[in-house]
Amino acid sequence: MKTCILILIALFLMNCSSAVGDRDANLNVTSPGDINTIEFELVDGVPFYSISRMGTPIIEPSRLGFELREIADLDGNFVIKDYSSSSFDETWTQVWGEKKHIRNHYNELKVHLAEDSDTARELILVFRAFDDGIGFRYEFPEQPYLGQFNIMDELTEFRLAGDHESWWIGAYQWNRFEYLTRNSAVSEIDTVHTPYTMRTADDLYLSIHEAALVDYSTMTLERTEGTTLYANLMPWHDGVRVRTQAPSVTPWRTIQIADEPGGLVTSYLILNLNEPNKIEETSWIEPAKYVGIWWGMHLDKYTWGSGDKHGATTENAKRYIDFAAEHGFPHVLVEGWNPGWDGEWYADGVVFDFTRPMPGFDLEEVARYALDKGVRLMGHHETSASVEHYESQMHEAFELYENLGVRAVKTGYVGHGQEVFWTDEYGNKNFEWHHGQHMVRHHQKVVELAAQHKISLNVHEGVKDTGLRRTWPNLMTREVARGQEYNAWGDSEGLWHGNGNPPDHVTLLPFTRNLGGPFDYTPGIVELHFDEYRPDNRVNHTLAKELALYVVIYSPLHMAADLPEHYQQRTDALQFIKDVPVDWYDTQVLHGSVGEYITVVRKDSNSDDFYLGSITNEEPRSFIAPLSFLDDGREYIAQIYRDTEDADWDSNPYGFVIEEVSVDSETELTLELAPGGGQAIRFTPAENR
Ligand code: NOJ
Repeated sequence: MKTCILILIALFLMNCSSAVGDRDANLNVTSPGDINTIEFELVDGVPFYSISRMGTPIIEPSRLGFELREIADLDGNFVIKDYSSSSFDETWTQVWGEKKHIRNHYNELKVHLAEDSDTARELILVFRAFDDGIGFRYEFPEQPYLGQFNIMDELTEFRLAGDHESWWIGAYQWNRFEYLTRNSAVSEIDTVHTPYTMRTADDLYLSIHEAALVDYSTMTLERTEGTTLYANLMPWHDGVRVRTQAPSVTPWRTIQIADEPGGLVTSYLILNLNEPNKIEETSWIEPAKYVGIWWGMHLDKYTWGSGDKHGATTENAKRYIDFAAEHGFPHVLVEGWNPGWDGEWYADGVVFDFTRPMPGFDLEEVARYALDKGVRLMGHHETSASVEHYESQMHEAFELYENLGVRAVKTGYVGHGQEVFWTDEYGNKNFEWHHGQHMVRHHQKVVELAAQHKISLNVHEGVKDTGLRRTWPNLMTREVARGQEYNAWGDSEGLWHGNGNPPDHVTLLPFTRNLGGPFDYTPGIVELHFDEYRPDNRVNHTLAKELALYVVIYSPLHMAADLPEHYQQRTDALQFIKDVPVDWYDTQVLHGSVGEYITVVRKDSNSDDFYLGSITNEEPRSFIAPLSFLDDGREYIAQIYRDTEDADWDSNPYGFVIEEVSVDSETELTLELAPGGGQAIRFTPAENR
């Protein structure tokens, strides 16, 4: 036995020594369950990687490296300086989330490259193989011949092994990430945002994204030829993609791989590739639901600016606070509370004042009134992307909110995708993309500042989510997609016959945008038509589907978005919105097809209850839902909020019933969903009723 081990060690060392110093080498790492393999190759000094899943090629050999400004590129002439393999297996606990305990289990290959030259500049590649996908990143170690440098291009390629069906939104557009999802073969795309989701001919599901985007530019995917994509990073105004210095690391480039679409939804690979929580004391970070003076503005019942219809009056805020206190919603958002909204606020955010209220809104009185009622004001900082101006006030602004007992702030960056500016030392205004490195840096500053003030964030028009919530759990949710508000005033983008979000929009999101992280979609509209205010628009769902969204779309801050007076007319539906939690012990996907339907089951973190949400596009569906997720031998009462037999999102969206049945883990429930419909269920152990 001893000899055997010695032979193995000797072989390993031989292997090592044969690769070290080589310009041609081949190393690989396979995931713990022998599922996904990453192969690293050095071909005459040029680095490549490829991915396969149980022998099936996913990524063909693809280039790695960088083009740099004014100094030699880091893209070849390498030898292997060293390499190592390791395994990691731990289960960590989320402060809040869609699953309490997450297993982080992978095998790692670390390849240390050095240039075959006198200066011998170094580059490290770290590959992690998980059973649900892979991640890799570059590290620039501290070294004598690489200090500060500018990346002109990251050469990372993804040479896809097939021309898959795919779902995407285009990058480099004025409206940032707020678009309807398109569907085409890979070979028909141009440049797209991530997560980029695909289905292969063999029915495998892939999603390319990134994890831990810190002090770097957002990665988009540009198709260069055929089915080859490359990491096109959002550039600065001067064409530089990333300004950095050694030592530093890039974000992880990730590919989630699943046999079923639901496998992408329950993959926690993005979170696993982020750093652990940096906030020691987290009791102030509270997953919660909120109401607010918000939908009224989108309907044009209220205005953000001053005048007869100004929504943010002391009186109106108190009315919302009373409603929140009565129904148990912990936060009340008030938009339009501060000066700056009059006129074209989105064109000139420099007028916003973040520390003084508008006349007619007594900020201190409203905050005090809320606290007296056991509710908190949720703050609002709309910057209209005038970031320089916001940064000059944000310290005082967060301090003010902390003093007023505010625990969550919604930020906003409405503005053209490329019009964030900063002023350089010569007084020039440099215009940057909303999700280039400049803004990635800004958002990081805000998260850390907010944490100092024990404030959580809900970011609108920000940068896409790459799992930073693991490291900064006060970065709770974001919009960064086309949310509910488009139902109030949005068009069809020429993609369908109605206005607003088509019925399949929310059946696409769980498999695309939401793979990045929580989404403040603002569900819960119960008056689906608002002809009095916006006759050309409506919510294109049934009422039951609107409820199911609370389970299907994950957010630790979920809004009950409709007007209090609308909820008072529909207290039956409101009950589900009051009951449904926002922090989960576990999540499962029972049925899923990208853009067609999804059924999600979640177990509450703070009780023995389970919740189910099921939604469909314009097609009616009938599903069998085996309730084997319930505790064996326990009786539950299922409160079912469902479409009636004649419900239809278009012609009869209010066809809605609530019924109760007794079930257990052996029961198979039939879920009948109307066209554009859904179903929401709460399961409570019978003994707790
Ligand atoms: C866009 C945000 O998505 C929306 O929620 C907000 O009401 C407006 N900006 C104004 O800040």
